[in-house]
Amino acid sequence: MRLFIQSVFLILISVSYYSCQQKSKYVIGVSQCSVDEWRDKMNMEMLNEAALSQNIELIILSSNDDTKKQISDIKYLIDQKVDLLILTPNEIAPMTPIIENIYDSGTPVILVDRKIDSDKFTAFIGADNYQIGTEVGRYAVNLLNGKGNIVEIKGLTGSSSAIERHRGFYDIVEKYPNMKIVFEGDAGWFKTEGALQMRKALNSTDSIDLVFVQNDRMAKGAFEEATKEDRAKNIYFLGIDGLPGPGEGIDMVLQNKLEATFLYPTGGDKTIQLATDILEKKYFKKENILPTSVIDKTNAKILKLQTDQIVEQQSKIVLLNQRINKQLEKYIAQRNITYLISVLAILFCILLIGLLKAYHAKKKLNNKLHDSNLEIIKQKNELEAHQLQLLALSKQLEEATHAKLAFFTDISHDFRTPLTLISGPVDLLLETSEPHKEGYKWLKIIKKNVDILLRLVNQIIEFRSIETNNAKLSLSPNNIDSYLKDWNLLFLQMIQKNKIEFSYQSEYFEHMCMFDLEKVERIYFNLLSNAFKFTGREGSISVLLSRIVEEEQAYIQITISNTGQGLSDDDINNIFERFYRVESHVTGSGIGLALVKALVELHEGCIAAISKNDLTTFIVKLPYIVSRQTIDKADTRITSLEQVHYDDKLTIQQPDSSTEIDSNYTLLIVDDNEEIRYYIRSIFKNKYHIIEASDGEEGLHLAYENNIDIIISDVMMPKIDGVELCTKIKEDIRVCHIPVVLLTACSLDEQRIKGFESGADAYISKPFNPRILEVRIQKMLENRQKIKKHLSGNILTESYNTLNINTLDDALILKLKNYILERISDTNLNVEDISSEFGLSRAQFYRKMKAITNQGPNEFIRAIRLNKSVEILRTGKNVSEVAYEVGFTSPAYFTKCFKEFFHKNPSEIS
Ligand code: FRU
Repeated sequence: MRLFIQSVFLILISVSYYSCQQKSKYVIGVSQCSVDEWRDKMNMEMLNEAALSQNIELIILSSNDDTKKQISDIKYLIDQKVDLLILTPNEIAPMTPIIENIYDSGTPVILVDRKIDSDKFTAFIGADNYQIGTEVGRYAVNLLNGKGNIVEIKGLTGSSSAIERHRGFYDIVEKYPNMKIVFEGDAGWFKTEGALQMRKALNSTDSIDLVFVQNDRMAKGAFEEATKEDRAKNIYFLGIDGLPGPGEGIDMVLQNKLEATFLYPTGGDKTIQLATDILEKKYFKKENILPTSVIDKTNAKILKLQTDQIVEQQSKIVLLNQRINKQLEKYIAQRNITYLISVLAILFCILLIGLLKAYHAKKKLNNKLHDSNLEIIKQKNELEAHQLQLLALSKQLEEATHAKLAFFTDISHDFRTPLTLISGPVDLLLETSEPHKEGYKWLKIIKKNVDILLRLVNQIIEFRSIETNNAKLSLSPNNIDSYLKDWNLLFLQMIQKNKIEFSYQSEYFEHMCMFDLEKVERIYFNLLSNAFKFTGREGSISVLLSRIVEEEQAYIQITISNTGQGLSDDDINNIFERFYRVESHVTGSGIGLALVKALVELHEGCIAAISKNDLTTFIVKLPYIVSRQTIDKADTRITSLEQVHYDDKLTIQQPDSSTEIDSNYTLLIVDDNEEIRYYIRSIFKNKYHIIEASDGEEGLHLAYENNIDIIISDVMMPKIDGVELCTKIKEDIRVCHIPVVLLTACSLDEQRIKGFESGADAYISKPFNPRILEVRIQKMLENRQKIKKHLSGNILTESYNTLNINTLDDALILKLKNYILERISDTNLNVEDISSEFGLSRAQFYRKMKAITNQGPNEFIRAIRLNKSVEILRTGKNVSEVAYEVGFTSPAYFTKCFKEFFHKNPSEIS
């Protein structure tokens, strides 16, 4: 590219050099004083000469006999930086200093035909005007034989030619005393002025023999003026210039208008030759006098022929010159085109060379690129192969890890049932044996280690469930405060043993909220275990339950702080990483806190650890979701701060005995594992009547046949499994009111979800703390009891509908209510009719009514009749009317029943 630019640059210089060569070498300025035939002829001669020389450019200006204009013309030419100036000064005086200046400044000046009053000019060319004047004088003397009156009509008074011509003429004439100049007038070289002066002369005298007019043009005017008076024929007219051509000097001689004219040569060609010599520094003469001669009748004819020929020749030369010029222009144009084409061809060649070079360079580059591409592809392939190897390796590793985890999980599942069966009976044994006996201590050791094993096993299973994305949330409304307190009790022994100051504080807010009970239990248990692990003897652990709002989202916040050695920054950053262990504490699987974090995040909550001044704090935030039930019970909210200090005076809380428990509750245990059945039976045998079934089918059958209050069922069983059993129970109107608790060794959430979808009322995974199971079952029974109580009093009111016990039971009660209300005045309405209407046996119907409403069918019918009677009594009807209207056979019996039911007389209703 650089080469290309350089070449273009060189070519442009050459072209501009060439263009310079086309310009004329010299520029010559010409300032003519007049516009007339004489000047035209001279200009033509100069142009022809310049054209012949080819290197002279002429700029010709004419000032039209106006001296001021001539001065400005000359300035213009000087501004154009002409190489030489040719001029005829119009007048001597004003032009002399201007010409001197130009000459002094170094521009050569040629004076033509007229002179100035100074030597400061380069050269003069023209005829000798004095000499012409003398020749005219001599000619006049001859013509008049030395005697006669003469009139002289002169050119411009200030011009040198006029002055010199007069002086020459006068010098001759004055020698002849009989020759008198009778009139002199200035006609300024113009024809009209010539005529005017002639008029004056004619008017001044009657005797004029000869008129000397200083040029032929003025002579023409004078002659014509004299002719007007017919006086021309008696007068000799003499002129100067002797120009060829029609009506000019020679012609006027031939026409007898002039006696003679004196040749005043124009000499344009010679002037240019002189200028060239000056410019080219050749030898030249300062004074160049052109010859003159008289033209009269003796030579005019031959001169005319000669000059005509010359004019013809000249016009041919002009034509030729024009043709040559045209040819020259053509030639120049063609030469220019040739140059242009050559330049373009050179440019094209350079471009071609450049393109070829670029092409080669590109080809080279392409080859290089191709090579490097090949190299890159090779490297890419190697990388891909490497990546594939790595992928295969990581897949193998992943598979191995999965296999390991799966193996550990399977083993953990297998371990859990036997561990449960060790842990449970040990609990029972511990409760029954006496603490001071030797065996008691051994049982404690067994219990402690079994619990550790169970916890590890459970963590592995839970962790696996999260790793395989099978962990799901099962939100249910629970009292968080109440559960945290229950779980605190599990650490009572450690509190007492290590003399730990343990405090639990809960802030005032609605504690009934939605969370996954088992997962929060796991979170809390792990964090508390961790706190106890790091708290030395006589240390302190504090728990705070609070409610916070962050970015318009409410959270339950559980803050667990413990004293101890504290955690390093490194520990804080990694504490929730799986298998991370705090260095100073080597025991533990390193899964606990990772599991806690995963469980918290499953709740869409967050967890953080802070360690400051030996105080380690874990803060758990779980979204605070208030349950529907809570909103309904808004008036029962806690309104005071509760703080509990756990010390050695505390004992494990016993199930709440304030609620009236029906000891005739019947519990159906469905499990294919006989030992588990035995274990559960041993937990509840002193409280409830127990019925056992070894599979779901048997369990379902027993549920139909017996008045069952609650079912505890395993999930994995032959024939009908726990989920199916639950579904069948919840879909059957006869038994759908029975609460079902699913109990299994498998804690996979998918199964839990299935369990809840089947309508299970609770899902408890093994291993379970027997006391916690006991409390759960008791609370469920209490709940049923409360609902029954509520229903017995509000069966006719709309509040029944909001309890939402079970859709089948809801539908049954609603249908039953409507059925009775439609037949309210029918005294014969009986239980048999109703039970058959609902497709149930009398016994089944009785059991159903008792289970839902805590009332027998007859009591239920009576309650509806009595509730309806209140409505009618309010319309103002009397008691007897109302009694019959609601199906009582006698008003007295109605009054008795009414009083028993409402503790009021019907007459008191208004
Ligand atoms: C032309 C002219 C001639 C005359 C000469 C004198 O301009 O008037 O006729 O001979 O100038 O300078």
